[in-house]
Amino acid sequence: MPPFSLYTTLLLLCATACTATTTVGVTYNPSIPNIPPPEKVASTLQSLHIQAVHLLDPTPAAVRVFAYTNISLLLSVPNDLVPSFAVNRSAATLWLYSLVLPYHPRTRISLISVGSDVITAAASSDAASDPTTTLIPAMNNLHLSLRDLGIRSIPVSTTFSFINVMTTSFPPSFAEFQEPVNSLIITPLLQFLDETNSSFLINLFPYDVYRMNSEIPVGYALFQENPFNFRDDTVTGVRYRNLFDMMVDAVIAAMAVLGKENIPVIVTETGWPNEAESEAIGNYAEMYLKGLLMHLRSGMGTPLKNEGVAEAYIYQLFDEIDLKNSSNKNGTSISRSGFGRQRWGIMHPNMTLKYRIAFSGSQRILRNGNYLVQMQMLLALLVLVPIHRIFTA
Ligand SMILES: *[C@@H]1O[C@H](CO)[C@@H](O)[C@H](O)[C@H]1NC(C)=O
Ligand SMILES: *[C@@H]1O[C@H](CO)[C@@H](O)[C@H](O)[C@H]1NC(C)=O
Ligand SMILES: *[C@@H]1O[C@H](CO)[C@@H](O)[C@H](O)[C@H]1NC(C)=O
Ligand SMILES: *[C@@H]1O[C@H](CO)[C@@H](O)[C@H](O)[C@H]1NC(C)=O
Ligand SMILES: *[C@@H]1O[C@H](CO)[C@@H](O)[C@H](O)[C@H]1NC(C)=O
Ligand SMILES: *[C@@H]1O[C@H](CO)[C@@H](O)[C@H](O)[C@H]1NC(C)=O
Repeated sequence: MPPFSLYTTLLLLCATACTATTTVGVTYNPSIPNIPPPEKVASTLQSLHIQAVHLLDPTPAAVRVFAYTNISLLLSVPNDLVPSFAVNRSAATLWLYSLVLPYHPRTRISLISVGSDVITAAASSDAASDPTTTLIPAMNNLHLSLRDLGIRSIPVSTTFSFINVMTTSFPPSFAEFQEPVNSLIITPLLQFLDETNSSFLINLFPYDVYRMNSEIPVGYALFQENPFNFRDDTVTGVRYRNLFDMMVDAVIAAMAVLGKENIPVIVTETGWPNEAESEAIGNYAEMYLKGLLMHLRSGMGTPLKNEGVAEAYIYQLFDEIDLKNSSNKNGTSISRSGFGRQRWGIMHPNMTLKYRIAFSGSQRILRNGNYLVQMQMLLALLVLVPIHRIFTA
C-alpha cells in the first residue's frame, strides 16, 4: 500500500475516531443550606460556560432558573421516592407535575435518574423496600408517565456506584457486574435502556479505587504523565495511562458481557476531595480536575470506547459535609459513600472557584487537542508501519 493512501486512511479514521465530545457538567444540590440562591448559581454557571448540571434533590426553583440557558439538566429523583413510584404511577406523575411539566422544554432536561446508588442506600438503611423489586418498576412507571404527558424527549435511567457494582477494575477486560445485582437488576435494566434509547449512569471515583489499592500510584489516578504510570491489560493488549479510562473500560467490558456495550455511558459523579488526610503536598483535587477536563476535551475516548463517555459531571459544586453522613435519613439522594467527612465542593459559597480550572474556551482547546492527538497518532502509525513491514517481509 503506497504511503499516501495509508496517510489518507489514517486521516479518515481519525476524522471519525478522534471526535469524541464529552459534555462536561457539575453536580449541584440546591437543598444544601447556606449557599447562594439558584438564580445566582445559574448565572455564574453560564458565565463559566458549564454545559450541563446534574441536579441532586431538585427543587422547582432550581429547575426553573435554567430556562433559556444552554445548560441541560440531569435530574435525580430522591431515593426515598423510588418505592412509591414503583407501586403507584400517580406518584411518578405528581413528581413530573412539580418538577418537569411546568418548565419543559424551556429548561432543557436531558435525562431523569430514578434514584442514585439505590442498592447501597437500601442496604445501609432500614428501608422496608427491596430495590430488586422496586427499581425497574419505578423507572418503568416514570417512563410511562412521561409518555402519558406527551414527553418523548426525556429518557429515564438510574445511577449506580462503580465500587458497589463492579467485581474488579483491573484488568478492565475481566470486569463484570456483581451478582446478584447483575442478574436481578442490571440485566433487565440494560434491556430497558436499549429499548428506550437511554444511557447507563455510573458514579465513578478513581479516588475510591486509589484509596482501596495502596499499590496504585497517585499520579495514575491524577492523569499525570509519567513513564511508570501505566497498566497493561494483557487480555486486550491495551495500555492504560490513567485510572479513569481503566474504570470506564471496566464498565464497558461488563456491559459487553451482556451484549449491551453500545449503550451510551454517563459519569454522573466524579471528583476528588479538597482535604483528604496526608495530602498536604500539592493540590490533588486541582490536579484531578485539570487532568480530567483536559482528558475529556482531547476527544480521545477510551481504548474500548472511541466516543468516550457521553457526559461527565464533576462532584460537586458546593461543600456538603453534613449530608454525607449516611445515617442522615434526609441524605438519601446523596450518593457519596465511604471515606469520611471531606469537602468535595469546587466553589466557595461566594461563587468563586477554589481551583484554577477552566470550563470556558473549550471549543478552542478541543480543536487544538484533537489536532495534537491526530498528529501524535499519525506519527506513531507512520513510524510503526515500516517496522511492521520489516518484520513481515
Ligand atoms: C446557546 O447556544 C446557541 C447555539 O449553540 C447560541 O446561538 C446562543 O447564543 C446560546 N445562548 C446562550 C444564552 O448562551
Ligand atoms: C398514589 O400516589 C398519589 C400521589 O402521590 C396519592 O395521592 C395516592 O393516594 C397514591 N395511591 C396509593 C394507592 O398509594
Ligand atoms: C431510538 O433512536 C433511534 C435512532 O435515533 C430511533 O429510530 C428510535 O425510534 C428510537 N427509539 C425510541 C424508543 O425512542
Ligand atoms: C451522623 O448522623 C447521626 C444522626 O443524625 C449522628 O448520630 C452521628 O453522630 C453522625 N455521624 C457523624 C460521623 O457525623
Ligand atoms: C429532614 O427532613 C425533615 C422534613 O423534610 C426536616 O424537618 C428535618 O429538619 C430534616 N433534617 C435534617 C437533619 O436535615
Ligand atoms: C471568596 O471566598 C473565599 C473563601 O472564603 C475567599 O478566599 C475569596 O477571597 C473570596 N472571593 C471574593 C471575590 O470574595
